[in-house]
Amino acid sequence: MLVNNAGIAMLALNGPDALKVFDANAVPIVRVTEAALPLLKRSANPVVVNVSSALGSFAANHDPARPASHVSAIVYGASKAAVSMLTVQYARAVPEVKFNAVEPGYTATEMGGHHNSQGRPVEISARNIVLTAAIGNDGPTGTFQEDDGELGW
Ligand SMILES: NC(=O)c1ccc[n+]([C@@H]2O[C@H](COP(=O)([O-])OP(=O)(O)OC[C@H]3O[C@@H](n4cnc5c(N)ncnc54)[C@H](OP(=O)(O)O)[C@@H]3O)[C@@H](O)[C@H]2O)c1
Repeated sequence: MLVNNAGIAMLALNGPDALKVFDANAVPIVRVTEAALPLLKRSANPVVVNVSSALGSFAANHDPARPASHVSAIVYGASKAAVSMLTVQYARAVPEVKFNAVEPGYTATEMGGHHNSQGRPVEISARNIVLTAAIGNDGPTGTFQEDDGELGW
């Protein structure tokens, strides 16, 4: 299995920082997945999990009931929308490997260069990532998972 988890958040709006965010959040999905695919295809149950965010979900951004619709994260959100499309496209292009995206939830990590003390514990957010990485042969592909089930793209 492959879990594409690395990511950064930068709020500055300029070209160099936008490139850094896409270079850390979206482009590695291609780099690492392409590097891992030969090995994944030799697995009896090949699974890829792309750690994304509700901030990259068009559905969550348009739902007033969701925090993502009230947060301004222009470049970060766009980079995570790219992660979503990479997940959908890879799921279709490589049907023998299961590709799913996961929204881990707002979590107390070092994201953004400071400790998100308001976020929930890492152990809780990691659970859904682990569960999605551990799906069996009959598990889904091309989905966006969160705590309560599927998150709209
Ligand atoms: N925290 C949240 O509330 C939240 C919410 C939704 C989604 N997410 C997503 O969850 C994932 C994990 O983030 P986190 O919250 O755990 O943040 P974090 O504590 O800042 O950890 C980010 C991780 O990504 C790695 N990384 C960053 N840039 C990299 C690069 N260019 N090359 C290789 N590794 C790189 C970091 O490695 P180093 O330590 O070596 O720099 C670190 O291990 C990210 O994809 C993030 O977008 C987080």
